Amino acid sequence: MTGMRPVTTRVAPLHWDGQLSLLDQRRLPWVEHWVTVRDAAHAARLIQALVVRGAPAIGIAAAYALAQQACQGNDLPALRRAARRLAAARPTAVNLRWAVERVMTAIEAAAPGHRAAVAEREARALHAEDAAACLRIGTLGAALFAGTAVTLLTHCNTGALATGGIGTALGIVRTLHAQGRLQRVFACEARPVLQGARLTVWECLQDGLPVTLLPDHAAASLLAAGGIDGVVLGADRIAADGSVANKLGTYPLAVLAARHGVPFVSAAPVSTFDLACPTGGSIPIEQRDGEEVRRLGRHRVVDRAVPVYNPSFDVAPAGLVTAIVCERGVVQPVDEARVRSVVA
Ligand code: MRU
Repeated sequence: MTGMRPVTTRVAPLHWDGQLSLLDQRRLPWVEHWVTVRDAAHAARLIQALVVRGAPAIGIAAAYALAQQACQGNDLPALRRAARRLAAARPTAVNLRWAVERVMTAIEAAAPGHRAAVAEREARALHAEDAAACLRIGTLGAALFAGTAVTLLTHCNTGALATGGIGTALGIVRTLHAQGRLQRVFACEARPVLQGARLTVWECLQDGLPVTLLPDHAAASLLAAGGIDGVVLGADRIAADGSVANKLGTYPLAVLAARHGVPFVSAAPVSTFDLACPTGGSIPIEQRDGEEVRRLGRHRVVDRAVPVYNPSFDVAPAGLVTAIVCERGVVQPVDEARVRSVVA
């Protein structure tokens, strides 16, 4: 688009200079604290603890962590163990397994003396590819919305903190802003860990995007009131039928969007698709520690003895998804044949 500002961000979740550093997302927005990763096992613990989170970002972090491990020693069985540990750190986002397998495949094919260099090259390549994918997703996704005053609702954090670039759904938001067409983005807080309130709002303020925060349950009345042009969110895994697993609260948003006739758009790189998963029902859903729900920050709200149901993700069935945007194109309408023709 002529006159469009470049789509950029001041935010990044990780840094690599032969050693991996992670911006501690548990401590945002209060403190910008960087954690130096010691080895792959340390990286796996940091991924589990949500120091780095977001499907593409955990894949990139794990790729660099495996490269770092390869720099510390080229013993193949030890590297295979490190890869298994990293891939198992979180079960839902398929990008994690995909990235680790990609780096491990490169390591396996290399001569012993070249394993470290090959692993680092592969990690850097998949990081750069994710940044490029975000830009393409931003362009394709922004084109789904007409007019000069687009208002979107988003969920969780799908921005620079969650990816190697400008973000997926938040990349669409950033692109609309650069095109001068973004009226406002509404961000759900995303209980219990508050990726929306803590991370998405922080990112938007860093980059000057007009953002309004809402409690998760206010999405219903916001959509009923009208004026929202689309619900845009990311994905942790997309099944072959187009069902989308994403942050808890995605499924209710899909139902609400359908009820109120608002487009429901998922944005994700090709690395988030898992064509071996036939339907949403076969996507593993991570159950997280009940303490995330029993506490508000440092304050205990509910006794430790109370059982908690705390799935980290839920699934929007394909029939409720208006479109899926990836770097290879837009899947619309969403069904298995179109998913396969765009992605495979
Ligand atoms: O538990 P999280 O914070 O890792 O969950 C992240 C999400 O659900 C994101 O929406 C998804 O990974 C897409 S990020 C581009």
